Amino acid sequence: MKNIVVLISGNGSNLQAIIDACGDSVPNAKISAVFSNKQQAYGLTRAQDAQISGYFVDPKQFNSREDFDQELMKQIDQHQPDLIVLAGYMRILSNNFVRHYLGRMINIHPSLLPKYPGLDTHQKAIDAGDEEHGTSVHFVTEELDGGPVILQAKVPVFEEDDAQTLTARVQTQEHKIYPLVVKWFVQDRLSMQGNHAYLDGNKLGEAGYAES
Ligand code: GAR
Repeated sequence: MKNIVVLISGNGSNLQAIIDACGDSVPNAKISAVFSNKQQAYGLTRAQDAQISGYFVDPKQFNSREDFDQELMKQIDQHQPDLIVLAGYMRILSNNFVRHYLGRMINIHPSLLPKYPGLDTHQKAIDAGDEEHGTSVHFVTEELDGGPVILQAKVPVFEEDDAQTLTARVQTQEHKIYPLVVKWFVQDRLSMQGNHAYLDGNKLGEAGYAES
């Protein structure tokens, strides 16, 4: 059985997709704990509803990012995680934290990386007049939103879209690709070596896995 720890800050719809998958299409995996840096995060309610331990760790109780991350690491490691899943976790990570979980921490970012790292990605895609947008699952490295991409999903951008409609279209895809990547990882099919992602021993390209 593989232990997964999920970090959230908000709604937790991706957490929900992974909870659902772990009870179904992803065998031998268990979400051991969910951590949030926001007390009101709805994802904590989702965890509770699924009988998963949920913890709020308050950043305000710490003097620095490093101190907060150190405590979070300590608490996370009590669950002996094989995989750390960032699912809408909206905090910058300290380098120590990233290094500690290097190769076993993944993130989902709502853009076709390397396009639009950072915030407001949907509005940025609309403002740029992009015809397509999407989401990327990637390994987390010290470069913000810059680690090797594992899998992307693309969606069209329509003229009448606003950030809300586009977010909804992207999230529908996120809920499909994130559980799939989690499944690959817990099946030991996925790894990071150097600054590259490998699936079944094959080095993935810039845009991650592409079915040929
Ligand atoms: C997701 O769309 C995810 O891509 C994004 O936050 C949303 C969280 O939704 N993540 C980031 O922007 C990280 N930089 P959720 O809480 O409903 O899963």
